[in-house]
Amino acid sequence: MAFELKSVVPWGRSLEEYIKIFKLTDSDLNSSIISFGDGPASFNSEMTKFDKKVVSLDPIYQFTKAQLKQRIDETKETVIKQTRANQENFVWKNIKNVDELEQIRMSAMANFIDDFEIGKEQQRYIYHQLPTPTKYEALEFDLGLSSHFLILYSQLGLDFHIQSISEMLRICKEIRIFPILNLNAVKSEILEDIINHFNSDFIVTLESSDYEFQKNGNETLVIKQKKIN
Ligand SMILES: C[S@@+](CC[C@H](N)C(=O)[O-])C[C@H]1O[C@@H](n2cnc3c(N)ncnc32)[C@H](O)[C@@H]1O
Repeated sequence: MAFELKSVVPWGRSLEEYIKIFKLTDSDLNSSIISFGDGPASFNSEMTKFDKKVVSLDPIYQFTKAQLKQRIDETKETVIKQTRANQENFVWKNIKNVDELEQIRMSAMANFIDDFEIGKEQQRYIYHQLPTPTKYEALEFDLGLSSHFLILYSQLGLDFHIQSISEMLRICKEIRIFPILNLNAVKSEILEDIINHFNSDFIVTLESSDYEFQKNGNETLVIKQKKIN
């Protein structure tokens, strides 16, 4: 099915948020990282400024800078209005209030927009839609991340997740997926089946995160290769 810009609500997080979400250590930050469904996050642009290596994949990278900027401007007010109306559903710990949320998100997305064209040229932003296989070699990356895409969008189904995570594990030595809740902020109905599927061939754990915005959304699914030569 075609991926349409009008169905996208761009909403991107910052490097500081990714560090807390995935508990990224200095050693993690110095490794080679690929981030799936990275969207308009500023993770890649901020990491690049620190000379770190990140490749971001997302279907929205097929659109132009002007199209993406326009879509961000169009949707921002609705998202902020909805968040303000549902404030009690969120934990205001890492982010203090809706005004700060708006400031953090808009600044992250502005960073992304400024970096998008040069990043595309440098092959740091790659148009890719899971669960399609990627062009990368087996175990080419140390760490694969999914922030606020896999497991959260449980409506994509178990098969979609098994195929997507299998591809991530083909090219990454370790992957981390956050959160493990669905869009209704309850433990994702596909989590158990995902864990059971990968448990025998990989090391699968649930680890605490330093980030919580959805209530009780403070755990990360971590899957590692058993043997790396
Ligand atoms: C809520 S955003 C998260 C963006 C970013 N990871 C963050 O945490 O700030 C979800 C992202 O998933 C992307 N997405 C949707 N369908 C996808 C697919 N089939 N494969 C990869 N990414 C997809 C969307 O384009 C969007 O950028």
